[in-house]
Amino acid sequence: MTNRFNERYKTGDLPWNINRPDFNLVGIVESHPVEPCKALDIGCGTGDNVIWLAREGFEVTGVDYAETAIHQARIKAEESKITSVFYTIDFLKNNVPGAPFGFIFDRGCFHSCDDAKERKLYARNVFKYIEKDGLWLTLTGNVDDGRLETGPPKLTARDVVSAVEPFFEILSLTSGRFDSNDTQPSKIWICLMKKRN
Ligand SMILES: C[S@@+](CC[C@H](N)C(=O)[O-])C[C@H]1O[C@@H](n2cnc3c(N)ncnc32)[C@H](O)[C@@H]1O
Repeated sequence: MTNRFNERYKTGDLPWNINRPDFNLVGIVESHPVEPCKALDIGCGTGDNVIWLAREGFEVTGVDYAETAIHQARIKAEESKITSVFYTIDFLKNNVPGAPFGFIFDRGCFHSCDDAKERKLYARNVFKYIEKDGLWLTLTGNVDDGRLETGPPKLTARDVVSAVEPFFEILSLTSGRFDSNDTQPSKIWICLMKKRN
């Protein structure tokens, strides 16, 4: 999987890469609101959401296992004159420096897990790295999109809930769309959660 993603960053085959923060992240951070704190973006890609969070006053770490993505993210961050740290890390296997985080975000990474076992491991890792009462926001493909053969991997609400519920209280789980340059953006689940004590 690493090489498949890395290859896509090398060739520029990146339909998710919109060069701006996803409006779903912006909307939830502003409306919840999520106060500036230490934040982690898992599978940060080329760093657009990291950069937006840093501009909003968050102290952000971005991790991705595609080294080309992290290279591009560091360049973008430098050009944007923000200070964030980036690590080439497999979130399912490696330790993430800088924990605990008050806010953890991922856009299109949780749904890249191969199966229910991996999704539970992913959720357990988020639980491990998040501080007491910390928030996790995931934007993840939604089977109700219908286009199962194309676009991002798609999960049922049950897939999401059964992975996260042992570790997180679900504050909201809504159906929406990815912020996208496509004319018909993929349907997603927008799930905001709070760490269970
Ligand atoms: C659909 S892309 C989204 C990238 C970025 N979040 C964005 O919104 O532009 C999913 C990203 O997750 C990364 N990824 C997938 N599984 C990962 C894992 N286990 N550890 C770290 N990164 C992972 C991929 O390399 C890829 O950059």
